[in-house]
Parts: sequence; C-alpha cells; structure tokens
Amino acid sequence: MEFARWTEDLVTGHPQVDTQHRRWYALVNELHEAIVAGRGDEVLGAALRAVYDYTDFHFSAEEGLMQAHHYPAFGSHRATHLALKRQVKDLIERNATRKVLPLTVGLFLGNWLRDHIETVDRRFIEWERAAAR
Ligand SMILES: [Fe+2]
Repeated sequence: MEFARWTEDLVTGHPQVDTQHRRWYALVNELHEAIVAGRGDEVLGAALRAVYDYTDFHFSAEEGLMQAHHYPAFGSHRATHLALKRQVKDLIERNATRKVLPLTVGLFLGNWLRDHIETVDRRFIEWERAAAR
C-alpha cells in the first residue's frame, strides 16, 4: 500500500489547498513506487529534494492565505511547517553522508501529511470558512 493514500476525508474544501495536497501526496507516492521497483536507494536523494521544494512552495501558499485572512493561529501553524522543513532538510543532509532507509522516509512523510492535514490544516480552513460568513 502507498505511504500516503489519498482519501476523500482529506479534502478540506479549499480548492487551491486541496489541489496542492494531492500533488504532495503524489510526490510521496512516487517514492513508494520507486521502492517497489527496487530503486528506492537510487531515487531517495532526488525524491527528498522534490518533496522539500514542493513543501516549501505549498507552505508559502498556505501561509500567504493565513496572513491574508489574519488567522489568529498563524504562528503555531507556521511553526509546524518550519519543523517539517527542518526535518526534511536534516534527512537530505543525513542521506548525503550515510544510509537513510527510503521506507522510513516514506512512512514518516505519509504519516506527517495525514496528521497535519486532518488536524492543523483542517482547523485553519474551518476557521476561514466561519470567518467568511
Ligand atoms: Fe499546513
């Protein structure tokens, strides 16, 4: 099974955020496909960089939305984003010098994404929807 299986309960109802979340999931699942094909070690470095770049792009977009709406929990939401970026950067650095297991990376990312979308992102989108009323 994929690391990050997209299910409809992950839909927040915000089209831009949902589109980006789906793309994020697809990226993590590309790593899964490579592992299944026996190419996990080979692609891990590139996969981590692709995840980092997309994460950076997506977080900036989400943070822009939060700031535009004066979201009161912006600081704590952003802190979770910074923490993930730091973790992915650490993985990139570690992978350059010693072996990092692609499976561990995939499971970590899959769990992080689901947990973050279901709790932290959902809280923001629900707040934004209520504030717009
Ligand atoms: Fe977020």
